[in-house]
Amino acid sequence: MFVEILDAGPPGTLRIAPSILAADFGALARAIEVVDAQTDWVHVDVMDGHFVPNISIGPPVVQSLRPYSARFFDCHLMISEPARYLEAFKRAGADSCTIHVEVGDTTSVIADARALGLRVGLAANPDTPFDAVAPFLEDIDLLLLMTVFPGFGGQSFMPEVMDKVILARKEIDAAHLALDLEVDGGIDRYTAPVATRAGANVLVAGSAIFSQPSPLDAASAIREAALVGQR
Ligand code: DX5
Ligand code: ZN
Repeated sequence: MFVEILDAGPPGTLRIAPSILAADFGALARAIEVVDAQTDWVHVDVMDGHFVPNISIGPPVVQSLRPYSARFFDCHLMISEPARYLEAFKRAGADSCTIHVEVGDTTSVIADARALGLRVGLAANPDTPFDAVAPFLEDIDLLLLMTVFPGFGGQSFMPEVMDKVILARKEIDAAHLALDLEVDGGIDRYTAPVATRAGANVLVAGSAIFSQPSPLDAASAIREAALVGQR
């Protein structure tokens, strides 16, 4: 099957990114097809059992899923050595790789990802200050502000991160940066408007989509709620 891959879309527009971490790993292709009509990106959570205390999936899964979706593959690398794997993700069909600022060596990893033609995201844990990511904003396409500590799905949204989201949105708008602002962790129909009101425009949701009786309806409800927060 050949599908033409959609690009990321204009920065700043509302995007719903279902996290396949919460889907049935035995039926991932079907899971992303089911929510396709109400979602924009596919969020792929990569965990190495080192940067985070959990192991998930890697490039072979991205490669296997690629023929089943035209959506932008937003790969969130919760791994200690992202530089070693960027090329494999690119070859597998990733559109974007997001690395964590806590890993270090940020300037060089961003440059490596760019050289491969990947879009680049930079992520910060809930307790990492905005100052840690601020120096890189001009060099990235996406800023991911985690609303849970990474490692597991199904955790509760941390509202205290919204101060950082508000600050980031202010900086992005003031400097006219072509940058998406993503939140990840505990996003559901109740927390989505809180995040969009603070200025986030890409919402990752795992359990609030895939653990629901109708993942498609759940994604649609999150989108509706997120739009309310943007008004
Ligand atoms: C957390 C992951 C998230 C997670 C979100 O480590 O980065 O993407 O899957 O899951 P929910 O939406 O269930 O909090
Ligand atoms: Zn994630």
